[in-house]
Amino acid sequence: MKWIADSIENSPPSIIGKLLSIASEYKDVISLAIGEPDLDTPEHIIEAGIDALKTKYTHYTSNFGFLELREAIAEKLDKENDFKVDPKNEIIVTCGAGAAIDLFMRTVLNPGDEVIVQDPGYFNYIYVSAFLDAKVVPLHVKEENEFSLKPEDLEEKITEKTKLLIINSPANPTGSVIPEKDLRKIADIAIENDLLVLTDEIYEKLIYDEKHFSIASIPEMKERCVLINGFSKAYAMTGWRVGYAAGNREIINKMGVIGAYTTICAPAVSQKAAISALKGNQECVEEMRKEYDKRRRYIVKRLNEIGIPTVMPKGAFYAFPNISQYGNSEKVWKLFLEKANVSTTPGTAFGRYGEGYLRFSYANSLENIEKALNNIEKVVKNV
Ligand SMILES: Cc1ncc(COP(=O)(O)O)c(C=O)c1O
Repeated sequence: MKWIADSIENSPPSIIGKLLSIASEYKDVISLAIGEPDLDTPEHIIEAGIDALKTKYTHYTSNFGFLELREAIAEKLDKENDFKVDPKNEIIVTCGAGAAIDLFMRTVLNPGDEVIVQDPGYFNYIYVSAFLDAKVVPLHVKEENEFSLKPEDLEEKITEKTKLLIINSPANPTGSVIPEKDLRKIADIAIENDLLVLTDEIYEKLIYDEKHFSIASIPEMKERCVLINGFSKAYAMTGWRVGYAAGNREIINKMGVIGAYTTICAPAVSQKAAISALKGNQECVEEMRKEYDKRRRYIVKRLNEIGIPTVMPKGAFYAFPNISQYGNSEKVWKLFLEKANVSTTPGTAFGRYGEGYLRFSYANSLENIEKALNNIEKVVKNV
């Protein structure tokens, strides 16, 4: 008997898992590989978590999360994103944005449905589609367009089977941001072709040169759009596991049904901390953004000076240098790991069009980034 389900067996192999395990065998490596803030959760949020424990918030909550948290999320979405949702019926709190993506895709996708994703793009969309036997249609986001999704390229990818478009802006792994004028065109295309849109806005607060615009704020998108966000990146809360989805009421309701039979709810303590994150002083977010911005400018300047062409990312905490002059992604990844003691992530972990690139996460101290780049400079001089 074969124990593993076909949909799992036939999923693409996890490049990132394999490479992280190789990287873990090297000692004293500077890691620019990880997609999580090196900064700590702000103190007032930690205190709210401790208070929640002491006051015995140690039980299940509603499958949709505490109403107080959903109300705070609805207020934030209205005020900051111009997206009006009913906290009672149109928001679900999940175990991180990752669980929201999973619940959403399981709710809407049938085997054979086509899902358009940015490539290079966040790998979860590819894997969850594969688990569901849905077909991923990669949409090449090109370096010459600063890796931003272009509406004219999207149109070419739509077929009768296209059900879902996933957009992620600011994006992992490229740091690209889709400008408002393009998001408006993308919305028109989605409406014309009756597409559902998942907008993953987890890096919303880490944007450097412009104001974040949400496609969900376009009134005609409300019925065909689910917005995902969370606390991991903006508030450095990866380990607390809180995120949310908001939008189409029928979809949110069904996500709650699946959630009830899987995770049941996001941790009560973490939900309480998330309320404090949203209601508390937002200066901590601005301080973190400024710190990442400093590192962004430094890493991109140095990479270009070294001779590795790197587009200036507009958001998130990743740079996506073009290393193709030295070999393919896996080869250069290995070269930097072995000879420069720097771990990065090969672009191919994010789709086939990631070939020729590496992802550098600058969620590490300036001091470590400087050391890493000095080492890389010495290595590339000898290639
Ligand atoms: C684009 C994107 N969406 C979602 C997530 C998942 O975030 P969370 O920690 O909230 O599950 C990540 C994490 O790296 C991400 O990069």
